[in-house]
Amino acid sequence: MTVGGQAAYSDGFGPKPGHVTHLPYNDLDALAEAMSSRTCAIMMEPLQGEGGIVTPDDEFLKGVRELCDKHNALLIFDEVQTGNGRTGEFYAYQHSGVEPDILSTAKSLGGGIPIGAMLTTTELAEHMKVGTHGSTYGGNPLACAVAEAVIDEVSKPEVLEGVKIREAWFREGLTQLNEKYGLFKEIRGKGLLVGAALNDEWQGRARDVLIASGEEGLLLLVAGANVVRFTPSLVITEEEVKEGFARLDRALAKVTAK
Ligand SMILES: Cc1ncc(COP(=O)(O)O)c(C=O)c1O
Repeated sequence: MTVGGQAAYSDGFGPKPGHVTHLPYNDLDALAEAMSSRTCAIMMEPLQGEGGIVTPDDEFLKGVRELCDKHNALLIFDEVQTGNGRTGEFYAYQHSGVEPDILSTAKSLGGGIPIGAMLTTTELAEHMKVGTHGSTYGGNPLACAVAEAVIDEVSKPEVLEGVKIREAWFREGLTQLNEKYGLFKEIRGKGLLVGAALNDEWQGRARDVLIASGEEGLLLLVAGANVVRFTPSLVITEEEVKEGFARLDRALAKVTAK
C-alpha cells in the first residue's frame, strides 16, 4: 500500500516502510536521476490500473529494465490488476518482451476465491526455502486448485484472442458514444482493461458517470477522478456489450443534460 503511493489507502496504517520514492510513470529521465547502486528494487505496474489506465510508452519498460540491470536492482511488476488474461496476454508484461524479476498476481487468479501469489526467477526463488515465508493460508490447497483451473482455462489461445476481439468492441462502442457526447479525450488501456479519459471540460466527473450508469443497472469503475474504467468479464458476449452500451448511452444522456 505504501509503494502504491495513494495516501487514501495507506494513511492510518503507519509506521510505513521508509525509503520509498514515488516517480512519474513513463518518465525514464526521472527514474535514471533517482536510481543509484543503493536502489533495491523498482516496483511498478506494466500498465497502470488505479493510476488512470496508463499504458507504458514503447521504450519505457525496456529503459526501466536496463536501469535495473545497470544498478543491480530488482524489477517487480505488480500484475494484480493486469494479470490473468485481462490485457489479452496472460500477463501484461508479455506484450513488451521485458521480463521482471518478480511478479505479483492476485484477484482474478482465483476466479473469486481469495489467493495471491508471487512469481520469480529460479535464481531468486532459491533464496526462499520452504518455511521462510509462511502464512496461515499460504499454499491453501483449495485456492491453489482453483487457481490452477483458472490458469488452464484463461491461458487457452481462444480465450486470450477473445479478449483482443472484445477490446475492439469496447473501443468501437466508446468511440461511437463519444461522437454523440464528446466527453472523452482518449480511449486507452489494453485488452479488457479499458479507460475512457474525460476531456478538460469534464475533469473530476468520472464518478458522475459511474453513478448515472449504476442507476441504469450498469456496473462501471473509475480510475482516479478523470477516467471511467471498464473491466468486464473476459468472456462477455457481444449481446451483453451492446446492452451495456445502450445503458451507458442513457447514463451519458443524463449526465450531459445536467
Ligand atoms: C495494482 C494493485 N496491486 C495490489 C493490490 C493489492 O492487492 P491485494 O489486496 O491482493 O493485496 C491491488 C488491489 O486493489 C491492486 O489493484
